[in-house]
Amino acid sequence: MRVLMIAGNWKMNTTISEAIELVGEMLPGLDEIDGVEKVICPPFISLAIVKELIKGSSIRLGAQNLYFEEKGAYTGEISPLMLADLCEFVIIGHSERRQYFNETGEIVNKKLRVALKVGLKPILCIGERLEENEAGRTEEVVTEQLGSSLAGIDYLGDLVIAYEPVWAIGTGKAATGKQSNETIGLIRSHIAKLYNESFAQEVRILYGGSVTADNIAEFVQQSEIDGALVGGASLKADQFLSIVKQTSEIAG
Ligand code: PGA
Repeated sequence: MRVLMIAGNWKMNTTISEAIELVGEMLPGLDEIDGVEKVICPPFISLAIVKELIKGSSIRLGAQNLYFEEKGAYTGEISPLMLADLCEFVIIGHSERRQYFNETGEIVNKKLRVALKVGLKPILCIGERLEENEAGRTEEVVTEQLGSSLAGIDYLGDLVIAYEPVWAIGTGKAATGKQSNETIGLIRSHIAKLYNESFAQEVRILYGGSVTADNIAEFVQQSEIDGALVGGASLKADQFLSIVKQTSEIAG
């Protein structure tokens, strides 16, 4: 049985005081909901304070990125060792990083390796662009992304995968539950080929892209979809709470 997960990716939003306020609004309600793993991923600069604020609660913490070296002369970067001290999860290979910061499959692979090495649980993002989707190349693209991201990695620990069609991210145009269930099923079969069937059945695969309180049920009701990576709607306490609550009811 895979435990459903809802992860909130705050992206480059919230100052430290706004992060404190948002956690304050969510914390009591979110802490009470069980049967779902609840993760929030604030910006780096708020991780330490958010860690303090959620201490003793059922809410888990994640970062949005990391650098693949452990330390050294890499001005401005954040190392896996710094994060291992602060949080449990780390988002790797988000499409915004691939698109705006030139993250290639090779870089994603290095980041995954180092995250696993220091005991962080990676949330690996994959997904096709609009033109790839329209050309019927979704399966080819996601399997290629899986292949390059996971190349040479034997042990994946508690890896979580997020299938996020790029055309659905931040556009208000979510995929349908049925479409994403199919693609996630393909991703799971590909994981079985690369690793083995029992790992494929264990690994959680989330959907991401314009998830809201109005459409979450459509996704988490699907047999292959193990939760969601939520961007915009994770910045509104009432929306995020409703998303988590509905997921918990479906997990029931
Ligand atoms: P969105 O972002 O929910 O705002 O579309 C999802 C994501 O990028 O993880």
